[in-house]
Amino acid sequence: MHLRLLLPSLSMLVLLPIARPATAPTTLPVEDRVRDLLSRMTLEEKVGQLVQYSGRDTLTGPGSQAELVPLIKAGGAGSMLNVHGAAKTREWQKLAVESSRLHIPMLFALDVVHGCRTIFPIPLGTAASWDLGAIEQAERIAAIEASATGIHWTFAPMVDIARDPRWGRIAESAGEDPFLGSTIARARVRGFQTDRLGAPGTILACAKHFAAYGAVQAGRDYFTTDVTERVLRDVYFPPFRAAVDAGVATFMAGFNDLDGTPCTANAFLLDRVLRGEWGFRGFVISDWQGISEMLEHGNVADLRDAARQSFLAGLDVDMEAQGYEKHLAELVRSGAVPVARLDAAVGAVLAAKFRLGLFEDPYRNCDEAQEKALLFAPAHREAARDLARRSAVLLKNNGVLPLKAGGITVAVVGPLADSAGDQLGCWSGLGERSEVVTLRAALAEAFPGARLRYAQGCLTTGDDTSGFAAARQAAAGADVIVAALGETANQSGESTSRASLDLSGPQLALLRELHATGKPVVLLLMAGRPLLLEAVDPLVDAILVGWHPGSMGGPGLADVLTGAYNPSGKLPVTWPRSVGQIPLFYAHKNSGRPTPTDPEGKYFSHYIDTPNTPRFRFGFGLSYTTFAYDSLRLSAPVLQPGGPALIVTARVRNAGARAGEEVVQLYVRDRVGSVTRPVRELKGFEKIALAAGESREVSFRLAPADLAFCRADMTFGPEPGAFDVFVGGDSNAALSAPFTLTAP
Ligand code: BGC
Repeated sequence: MHLRLLLPSLSMLVLLPIARPATAPTTLPVEDRVRDLLSRMTLEEKVGQLVQYSGRDTLTGPGSQAELVPLIKAGGAGSMLNVHGAAKTREWQKLAVESSRLHIPMLFALDVVHGCRTIFPIPLGTAASWDLGAIEQAERIAAIEASATGIHWTFAPMVDIARDPRWGRIAESAGEDPFLGSTIARARVRGFQTDRLGAPGTILACAKHFAAYGAVQAGRDYFTTDVTERVLRDVYFPPFRAAVDAGVATFMAGFNDLDGTPCTANAFLLDRVLRGEWGFRGFVISDWQGISEMLEHGNVADLRDAARQSFLAGLDVDMEAQGYEKHLAELVRSGAVPVARLDAAVGAVLAAKFRLGLFEDPYRNCDEAQEKALLFAPAHREAARDLARRSAVLLKNNGVLPLKAGGITVAVVGPLADSAGDQLGCWSGLGERSEVVTLRAALAEAFPGARLRYAQGCLTTGDDTSGFAAARQAAAGADVIVAALGETANQSGESTSRASLDLSGPQLALLRELHATGKPVVLLLMAGRPLLLEAVDPLVDAILVGWHPGSMGGPGLADVLTGAYNPSGKLPVTWPRSVGQIPLFYAHKNSGRPTPTDPEGKYFSHYIDTPNTPRFRFGFGLSYTTFAYDSLRLSAPVLQPGGPALIVTARVRNAGARAGEEVVQLYVRDRVGSVTRPVRELKGFEKIALAAGESREVSFRLAPADLAFCRADMTFGPEPGAFDVFVGGDSNAALSAPFTLTAP
């Protein structure tokens, strides 16, 4: 589907009579219009632009937020979170535009994390597609739907590097790798904003949570982080930097404290790196009550100081903490905060509103007819189905998949087989359970009538095994069993850290029962993170990871199970064998003892009770065909700064009997550095489609800048010396060749 087809045309936007803010003529550059408006604002009105509250739906009636009405009328809230719907946002916007002195429109924000009404697979799932076009298109659709329902701003993409599956928010991430994470961050920002923010169907994106939130100690959400500046620059910063380069409009500070200072008030992050080094010109919002949480962190004694420190560090907008509302005006009056800093923050918020066109039409996203036409539109559903199947990763297949067509009976069993809410996953926006097509419903299409048998079997929690008998019965009459097990939506996402990554509740026991029937068992794992498979593996003939696959996950995964789609997903995270191995990631350091140094084989970096290797490696995923790699060659043995880039070429052949897609991956090892270097780093990938028997040469370009890292002297750049390149279908890629980078 062509992206352009998804843009609502201008003619669909209904222009209504509005109370227009009195601002400078629209032909002036945004900077001039901002300056003009700032010159007419009172101190309190300026502070108002930096205050955000979460709204419930109604302004009047039971459960309403009547207390916010006078605040908004006074221009005291620049943006609202969680108010959505064309009609509702119009009602709230009217208050700001028609009642406030300067008629400045509000921004409406929502966490549109993996779809708005049409829910796509969780971000970790879509990252497994390694399909940048499909990921960008999904965010384009999410932005179109969000703007049709009154939203101007999403708190996405989350670009935190996540190397710890105990952390539930790994589900929201693109996984463990800075290179993959950066390319996906760019695609997501482009999807939300396009290159013409303000065009119909575009919304402000927000890179979050700056920074290193994924490194919370022991994988426990909201906990402390202690990451060296080198690791920040090499691992955690790159996707944020990529988002800035893609023009991301806003940033969100993390909840975590980093090296002793909460990100909310971290001048190193917000002022020095983000604005100073990267030249970011948008604005930064706190996470939910991030400012007041500093009282608990213990780096401030009161809310006034929390507001002062945050604002001086570079945090522009206060989400829900009341720190700025209560204290910022007084801080400016007393001289504790310079007016110039205030004007810079307010100016950045106003500039975003100008760019979105809100001063021309504050109700541009409040058209109910458009909302009705665009939410869960057929083309959006089709894209969600396609991305669900592209995101699935086949980890094991003894030949049972794809399911044989014609006449077989399938038993679909398990707590996630027919659970609409769980299929949506965490942060499911405005997704409607009633619109979800579950796996059971989709398989019933492929295996009609009595050819599909179903039993829930058990829940993912507790110890109730009373459903096992029905599960056994369903399985007994089938030729093959599909066991849909894993995590519910509530076991994944924010504040869902887990110390055990085993299948929870009675699920393993259920799997044993199914295995005991002697029928082939396919495990369809629906989860927001890698779960341990050591005990599971001997009980199953195939493992397909479907993640939390979204509204159309059922049909998408059914396509993979039946072979209508040949799986092409690859793991964006390393899959551990045990919790004790965590954090486990492919781009680790070599250590001084990578192999035994003594005859007993004892004194080297290892465990005495489990291998160092993961259960499944980063970049791994099977297909119903196989791919063979050969003929690796480099354009030259030497890469010279200022000279031509190195071209790395390999031949990939579809060695099987059916068409398929392969993610061709390029890794590099820097053999000697002024500081120790990872054993391998991803530096390129391309997803290609090959017919049965077809071969193709795939080329990658490597320039010196691609080899840059944080050197011993803390400068960022490459170092001359010996390197190896590897090309293949996962992070163990075997084809390799050496090259040398010469000094400039
Ligand atoms: C989350 C953010 C989210 C915010 C607003 C917080 O709890 O950490 O990721 O954007 O809530 O919903």
